[in-house]
Amino acid sequence: MAGRILITGGTGYIGSHTAVVLTQSGHDIVLYDNLSSSSDVILDALKEITGKPIPFVKGDVRDADRLVHTLKSHKIDAVMHFAGLKAVGESVEKPLEYFTNNIQGAISLLNALQTQSINTFIFSSSATVYGEPEYLPFDEEHPTNALNPYGRSKKHVEEILQDIASSNPALRIACLRYFNPVGAHESRLIGEIPKGNPNNLMPSIAQVAMGDREELCVFGDDYPTSDGTGVRDYIHVMDLAEGHAASLTFLESNTGWHAFNLGSGTGYSVMELIHAFEKEANCTIPYRITERLAGDIAEYYSNPDKAAKLLGWKTKRNLKKMCASTWKKTKLTLYSSDTISQK
Ligand code: NAD
Ligand code: UFG
Repeated sequence: MAGRILITGGTGYIGSHTAVVLTQSGHDIVLYDNLSSSSDVILDALKEITGKPIPFVKGDVRDADRLVHTLKSHKIDAVMHFAGLKAVGESVEKPLEYFTNNIQGAISLLNALQTQSINTFIFSSSATVYGEPEYLPFDEEHPTNALNPYGRSKKHVEEILQDIASSNPALRIACLRYFNPVGAHESRLIGEIPKGNPNNLMPSIAQVAMGDREELCVFGDDYPTSDGTGVRDYIHVMDLAEGHAASLTFLESNTGWHAFNLGSGTGYSVMELIHAFEKEANCTIPYRITERLAGDIAEYYSNPDKAAKLLGWKTKRNLKKMCASTWKKTKLTLYSSDTISQK
């Protein structure tokens, strides 16, 4: 088993769920995060879920000295790199911020790892690296033509990782291309905490279900899909977290650079998601069809065969579970906030 693992972005949505899975499977971990989009209250939640305190370092991945010090003092053997910015729309408005955080951040981290001869690295990539589908489902051989600065930041880091893996045969690198992560840990103690107004579909549906928003805007119903609305491959965040543990095991016996799709292989439309959520929350989600979102892709979903074959991993939680856990978590979060408790 890999020794101690550093999780950058460890107090964020996917990092915190992965921290639970790794801790519960016996790994020693250290979280590293600048708390720009998360909070250290997550540390209490993680302690409650796992039954032990998780070491945490507050730091930025662009801070080389802090990184090197952390790697040395905690005797880190492997790194999972989640830290970064992730909003597509914001990346179009502030591309430099995205390139600085996501690309410069990754380079700074990789330099620090080199100083300590740490060879195992797992990178949070994204299905957005593929861009407009030339065929579906996306397999890992599909060309990568990311359409926005966020997607290009992921593509560039993947390429940097490919180059350094070619230059050093001791390196063990996995780029995990996530499809659409949703849901929350069953404890409801951790989950997605969107900054400001959520733009993504699942948190937006949950807000409408809570009565916090009047209606959902469905961005277009005239796509060439089963019911005209956009189709995506949603993956439960706990399945995603387990995919990271499986990748770590894979890298123990494999050097080189590897890309894996982490998705379910099934696409669901916006309307299918709305209806699945309505069943779990026992409510009706009012919606209005609006214009298509500029640059939105009609449909994409993964071919998850490579991960199944080489990682021995596939998704276990269905759409019902994804909606149920989102709903449970949303109720808890909103009812405990000041605004909702007054309702
Ligand atoms: P998140 O925003 O919840 O977590 C990211 C964490 O990184 C936050 O805790 C933030 O404080 C931290 N961070 C940001 N910049 C940092 C920096 N410079 N130094 C140190 N810490 C920093 O996001 P998430 O959904 O957990 O995503 C994790 C990773 O997965 C990201 O790299 C994201 O691009 C990628 N990803 C996410 C999705 C998704 O839909 N959630 C899809 C594909 C890929
Ligand atoms: N949608 C609506 N109404 C909304 C929000 C979304 O109809 O209020 C539709 C979108 O048009 C799309 C689908 O719901 O068809 C899913 O949209 P999301 O915004 O939830 O997800 P995206 O696939 O557009 O993008 C997400 C993340 C990216 C990530 C990508 C990975 O935002 O950061 O998944 O596949 F890279």
